Amino acid sequence: KRLLPLLTGLVLLLSACGREDLSTLNPQGPVAEKQLDLMKLSIGIMALVVVVVFAICIYVLIRFRRRSGDKSIPKQVEGNHTLEIIWTVIPLVLLLILGVPTIKDVFGLAKDYSKDKNAVQVRVTAHQYWWEFEYTGYGIKTAQELVVPTDKTISFELVGADVKHSFWIPAIGGKMDTNPGVTNRMYLEFPKEGVFRGKCAELCGPSHALMDFKAKAVSPASFDRWVAAMKAPAVMPADAEIAEKFTSQCLTCHAVGENGGNSAPNLTGVGSRQTIGGILYNDTTSVEKNIHDWVTDPQKYKSGAMMPKAVENDLTQEQVSAIAKYLAEYKLDY
Ligand code: CUA
Repeated sequence: KRLLPLLTGLVLLLSACGREDLSTLNPQGPVAEKQLDLMKLSIGIMALVVVVVFAICIYVLIRFRRRSGDKSIPKQVEGNHTLEIIWTVIPLVLLLILGVPTIKDVFGLAKDYSKDKNAVQVRVTAHQYWWEFEYTGYGIKTAQELVVPTDKTISFELVGADVKHSFWIPAIGGKMDTNPGVTNRMYLEFPKEGVFRGKCAELCGPSHALMDFKAKAVSPASFDRWVAAMKAPAVMPADAEIAEKFTSQCLTCHAVGENGGNSAPNLTGVGSRQTIGGILYNDTTSVEKNIHDWVTDPQKYKSGAMMPKAVENDLTQEQVSAIAKYLAEYKLDY
């Protein structure tokens, strides 16, 4: 009876309480499935070891306890070859049972996927505190929201722009470090359509916990439409004064389509994304309000974010509102 609330609490703790699927225990792709199998295997072995060790321990405590009136010194034992061989060989066997499938899966996955010439190449660059996704085969760049087709392997090149981060989509697979100056490779598949939450899994600064992204798996046709929409000429603000302000204050770092800089998240079609800054959800608060709030004071939402506040950026509240309206309406049809 006492165990029940404890177990319930544990299940609640382990289940993804978030709004999207963020659970390694509910795999949505073959890589996460294999990783879950390995987790089950290692937890099984650990549980077995714990049960056996505790059983022996309890047996010894009871069997050899000091009985009342007994003042004698127990038999003194020094070394026992048979026992020593047994407790060396058993862990060795357990490590082999654990190690062989792990190594087989880790290298097997990389090898099988690397043969796939149809894989979509995505170069992931992790920044404090946002994610850049460059589709090298298509010549497009986006940020915060990775869009992938359900019918192809995705071949990731992982790098870090500043410090160490780690790329992880719990329901799909991972995690792997993104290091400055080193390229790591990872292959993932997204067989089911849906939006999967990604996290940074390496402590990287004050907003590490807020360094979220989305992986959106769409049908092959939808992916082709997305690529075409991303490659279409950039939509600029209709109002000339706002367009000028947007170009001089925003596009020095950000980009839309072929216009702009390279040091901040690409904003092409940002109105279609699920979140602003990875953490302000556009289904609960309108995308326009989220962009407005973010542009006004980015550090309020992500401490340590590089983007200056609107006032430091020489933008009036009217200009911020106009830019938020323009960006919110900049949607991609796919
Ligand atoms: Cu990036 Cu933690």
